[in-house]
Amino acid sequence: MDNKVKLQYKIIVLRKKHIVMPNNKHAMEKNLKLHWNKTYEKTEIEKLGWYEDSPEPSLRLINKCKLDKNASILNVGAGVTMLVDKLIEQGYNNIIVNDLSSIALDKLKMRIGNNNSNSIRWIVDDLSNSTKLNKLENIDLWHDRAVLHFFYTEKEQMAYFKLLKSVVKLNGFVIISTFSLNSATKCSGLPVHRFNKEMLQIKLGNRFILLETFNHIYTMPSGDKREYVYTLFKRTQ
Ligand SMILES: C[S@@+](CC[C@H](N)C(=O)[O-])C[C@H]1O[C@@H](n2cnc3c(N)ncnc32)[C@H](O)[C@@H]1O
Repeated sequence: MDNKVKLQYKIIVLRKKHIVMPNNKHAMEKNLKLHWNKTYEKTEIEKLGWYEDSPEPSLRLINKCKLDKNASILNVGAGVTMLVDKLIEQGYNNIIVNDLSSIALDKLKMRIGNNNSNSIRWIVDDLSNSTKLNKLENIDLWHDRAVLHFFYTEKEQMAYFKLLKSVVKLNGFVIISTFSLNSATKCSGLPVHRFNKEMLQIKLGNRFILLETFNHIYTMPSGDKREYVYTLFKRTQ
């Protein structure tokens, strides 16, 4: 086995056994960071298995929120998404871009250029063990496409939703798009936890109401298809 395969195997075994003990938690985080950094280092943006030329389903839901242009939009696990370019084009000027991978954010920064640096804050942080994102508050919109499903264990999911609930303001919005129950069981070589809208509602609790949901078939650059469930929630309490 070469080192990369060994590393991926180790990550899968650790996650499947739900081993999240303090000692190896740090090692696991480092491995996942390495996994994502390597993925972004070695893959051309347009060849990533989640690349979208134009993230239409997300834009449709964002437009539905009717946000002010200075609303705070937190794009979690953003990778190198074109969504940031589109939000800038639409005049949004308070965008926060997060990812575990600094390489992804560096690539995105390079593409977007310095002209828009006043409109964007960049935060490299782990959504399941946050040390920076947890300092945020009053977020108007939390946007997640294809990130939550990587939180395979109950513990990681709890950390994700705890963070979300602590930063999204009253009357703020949450867009989560994740592999649906019909989708693949792996993405980027990692096992995924699939959701439907009811499961997301349970995780968010009754302080959030579901405004809109739809399934979307995404075609990967390879031609393979993946089904995503898109949801738009509003925090009402
Ligand atoms: C499948 S990609 C989706 C990227 C982007 N949202 C999009 O739609 O193009 C998943 C992203 O989640 C990021 N990610 C994975 N685990 C993370 C974590 N614990 N904290 C923050 N980001 C994470 C990865 O680095 C990767 O960029």
